[in-house]
Amino acid sequence: MPELETFALKGNLLYTREPSRLECFPDHYLVCENGCVAGIFPCLPDRYAHVAVEDCGSRLIVPGLTDLHLHAPQYAFRGLGMDLELLDWLDSHTFPEESRYADPVYAERAYRLFVRDLQMSTTTRACIFATIHADATLLLMQLLEETGLVAMVGKVNMDMNSPESYCETTDGSLAETERWIRESLCRYKNVSPILTPRFAPVCSGRLMASLGRLQQKYALPLQSHLSESPGEVAWVKSLFPDCGCYGDVYDRFGLFGSNGPVVMAHCVYSGREERELIRKRGVFIAHCPQSNVNLSSGIAPAKSCLQDGLKVGLGSDIAGGFSLSGFRGISDAIQMSKMHWRLQDPDIKPLSFSEAFYLATKGGGAFFGKVGSFETDYEFDALVLDDAAWPSPSELEPESRLEQLVYLGDDRCIRKKYVKGRKIVG
Ligand code: GUN
Ligand code: FE
Repeated sequence: MPELETFALKGNLLYTREPSRLECFPDHYLVCENGCVAGIFPCLPDRYAHVAVEDCGSRLIVPGLTDLHLHAPQYAFRGLGMDLELLDWLDSHTFPEESRYADPVYAERAYRLFVRDLQMSTTTRACIFATIHADATLLLMQLLEETGLVAMVGKVNMDMNSPESYCETTDGSLAETERWIRESLCRYKNVSPILTPRFAPVCSGRLMASLGRLQQKYALPLQSHLSESPGEVAWVKSLFPDCGCYGDVYDRFGLFGSNGPVVMAHCVYSGREERELIRKRGVFIAHCPQSNVNLSSGIAPAKSCLQDGLKVGLGSDIAGGFSLSGFRGISDAIQMSKMHWRLQDPDIKPLSFSEAFYLATKGGGAFFGKVGSFETDYEFDALVLDDAAWPSPSELEPESRLEQLVYLGDDRCIRKKYVKGRKIVG
């Protein structure tokens, strides 16, 4: 493999090493060596005197954002059916649309639109649900690989409590999952498979137990949904009455961190017992504030999860959420945490800007390793941002400029985007 070029970006560098503080290095150099951050310098050291410098002027440079939970086949109907709750929305919009991905012509047309927009978005890394169809999932993985983004992509498993037109047999689901794993496991540089039982109510015990064994056999990560809405939580309780909590259902079948890394979306209704299990097993939480509003799911206690030292990132949950923008995710997370403070628990303060920025970068990035920060040796994922569309009557500090850009801006502010040291936009 050819060695990656060493280079430097010069501009206003901002990132969070820890949730409580936004680090800011105005007019500094950020050096990239072998796809990783080699350091931050006020002047370029002699050993880098020869490297190419991209002078970004007064622009802001931040780590790329991680979208820890979204559904690629739902992108086509984002913004529709937003007057429904989760289980009705799944039946009326989601399952009928996802069943269309059995048709490779439709799948390619729809996935191309999704992938193009994801490439131009704030996202550099993503954990993505596809559909139950192995071939369409392989196609999505190929299209993502061509963008240079880093993604974990899952063929969905569901073998019960689903419409006839969008349901698998247990044996069929397992056979197709293993075929998809074998065909995708070492095929791409940046895209890899992640096991994806949709959620407990649509997966039989035998399916879940077998997926646990596959996770161990192939050393794969796993993603699913957990404690998202009141109706769903009650349904799981009625299906698995002897499980202590919803998370315990996954845990009994080895799908809750005992066989490898796991990310669970939502955790709006995770009580004390479930949170303790999440902590013990090192499970990541994908907090999806926009989806939680749209599907009337509830207000997730993101701040207290962060305070308790749980691993938390942000997810757009397309199409529970309608926006791919990670900036929107940050502002939604802050707004939802204010409602949590006001309506649910006055002892838990809202998320600060730096805390929400941390969730979107280093918090979710940790699922991918050393990702989401400009600390030395972190993988070099970066966005160069232009806020010239909002001239200020007085000079603002870079921290304030970033905060304003997150609230007011979107993909159109991105001038350059780097993933693992490779420029993929700009
Ligand atoms: N739970 C099971 N499937 C889904 C889905 O597609 N979206 C959301 N938000 N929750 C789910
Ligand atoms: Fe989801």
